[in-house]
Amino acid sequence: MNYYKVENLEQYFKMYNKSVREPRKFWERIADENFTWYQRWDKVLEYDMSKAEIQWFVNGKLNITKNCIDRHLNKRGDKTAIIFEPNDPKEKAQHITYNELHQRVCKMANVLREQGVKKGDRVCIYLPMIPELAVSLLACARIGAIHSVVFAGFSATALNSRIVDCDAKFVITADGSYRGNKSIDLKGIVDEALEKAPMVQTVLVAKRTNTDVPMKEGRDKWLQPLLDSASSNNVAEIMDSENPLFILYTSGSTGKPKGMVHTTGGYMVYTAYTFKNVFRYEENDIYWCTADIGWITGHSYIVYGPLLNGATTVMFEGIPNYPDFGRFWEIVEKHKITQFYTAPTAIRSLAKESTEWVEKHDLSSLKVIGSVGEPINEEAWHWYNNHIGQKRCPITDTWWQTETGGVMIAPLPFVTPTKPTYATFPLPGVQAVLMDEKRNEIEDNQVVGSLCIKFPWPGIARTIWGDHQRYIDTYFSAFPGKYFTGDGALRDEVGYYRITGRVDDVVIVSGHNLGTAPIEDAINEHPAVAESAIVGFPHDIKGNALYGFITLKETGLTRDQNNLRNEINQHISTHIGPIAKLDKIQFVAGLPKTRSGKIMRRILRKIAEGDFSNFGDTSTLLNPEIVDLIKDDRIE
Ligand code: PRX
Repeated sequence: MNYYKVENLEQYFKMYNKSVREPRKFWERIADENFTWYQRWDKVLEYDMSKAEIQWFVNGKLNITKNCIDRHLNKRGDKTAIIFEPNDPKEKAQHITYNELHQRVCKMANVLREQGVKKGDRVCIYLPMIPELAVSLLACARIGAIHSVVFAGFSATALNSRIVDCDAKFVITADGSYRGNKSIDLKGIVDEALEKAPMVQTVLVAKRTNTDVPMKEGRDKWLQPLLDSASSNNVAEIMDSENPLFILYTSGSTGKPKGMVHTTGGYMVYTAYTFKNVFRYEENDIYWCTADIGWITGHSYIVYGPLLNGATTVMFEGIPNYPDFGRFWEIVEKHKITQFYTAPTAIRSLAKESTEWVEKHDLSSLKVIGSVGEPINEEAWHWYNNHIGQKRCPITDTWWQTETGGVMIAPLPFVTPTKPTYATFPLPGVQAVLMDEKRNEIEDNQVVGSLCIKFPWPGIARTIWGDHQRYIDTYFSAFPGKYFTGDGALRDEVGYYRITGRVDDVVIVSGHNLGTAPIEDAINEHPAVAESAIVGFPHDIKGNALYGFITLKETGLTRDQNNLRNEINQHISTHIGPIAKLDKIQFVAGLPKTRSGKIMRRILRKIAEGDFSNFGDTSTLLNPEIVDLIKDDRIE
């Protein structure tokens, strides 16, 4: 049996059972058969769930870029590693071979070393989807620096807090970025972010928009001249399996964003294994994931997973509706994409347009199509299946998280029969369980429970940067001995999982995780605002959108309400980013509170959804009369 690849359902069950019976042996064979290690591990796994201490391939030595690039050079040196598809379809796509990628990564690694970056240093990367982004990640990994990519749609304040949190002394950015018909002043955002980040010594600036941007002497340097004079010989750093590879921030339901730390060995094994199986990758496939590398999907399934398999991976700089609604399908046709991976929100936004945009293009190259980031509703699933997959290509609805490193629950194409809205079976090695409120495992079908994982897998994040206690509290305390995902799910009679959504105060808007508390904190800083409560409500395109209930101070009461709404959204935009803007803002006289002062969000959620049927027990409310007032003024 080929350990790396599951061929049919019988094999899946065999593998799955083996992975539960003998998890160490299972992962050890995969790690042994498919990678280059400088030194083999002493022990496959050591863990203590109560302390959230997990180590895989203990004392193994490796460099992930040797596995992503160097290992392929003999056989695949001239093969395309990355296809860069620019924002503007009139600009030529770039095909970067494995040989070229090797050169570019080595040069960049040398530049970073020359600039003083050392093993273990944090490098913040704030770049658009241009080849320098992938090259920067790999160059950091090559020299053992820890990359912390911040999605280049985040605001200066959000960027600042991430730089400060991980104490990054180096930033890599660009003069500007293109997004549809707009260009964005990235360097300006970085400059603003750095006003209060004195730790940053060096900013390397790539050129994309060729705009004239101010360069701070001693701190800011153009990247290209440094690359031009750098050597393309670079000896990769020897890393321990458990050395951090990167930090990636994700929203929490409370407080500041959590810097999830992924380490080298386990993440490598897990992303490579899952990429191969979840996308049923074969040599010479052309794989495209539409995510941004600023999110985990891009880390694991644009950069690391595909390159570890020697695949050709597409990086797309643009957006689905520029210059028109056919852009995705034009790219599929142009590059003869075999695997296409996107988010339900993109599917929904394209599904509302005429199918002519799809029909104009030849999608016959497609073999497998995937979905990620939020539950895919039945209608979107069928549209995707009928028009994009053309009922030939299985949809792999992949459930996973920033914290899990790679896909956890998903149908294996041509192996697991699909079922709309179900992520189906856990992958081999993933011991999923559903828990009830009393912390007992749910055995029954069709009962919603809290989704937990009861045994470590190699891709699990190891900690929250600088705050291990928060890592324990967030993920390992609600259900002792288990990793708690924060998601609700149910299981059908054959064991398929359906994810029902978050069970905490995180709302997924257009596939982006947004904690409501940080948005409330931002709003409450507005001088006219007294207090606020944010909840999610269902939205046709975004999946969920945000509804804000806001009480005003005296000064706010006399203001024009629409102006105030715009100001509040602008405030959110600068503090967090435009993705966190509120769709609806209702100014209210008070918020429903319990006697202990807690806002009863359950009621606000129902009002936002327009469901007035049953508010449940309101007897503990201090101000029950407020509920009717809020309800009467609800914004449609
Ligand atoms: O609620 C789940 C939802 O997205 C959350 C993780 O978000 P993030 O860390 O940003 O990672 C997104 C990309 C992996 C999960 O807790 N989610 C993700 N994929 C699915 C999903 N919900 C339902 N179905 C999915 N396929």
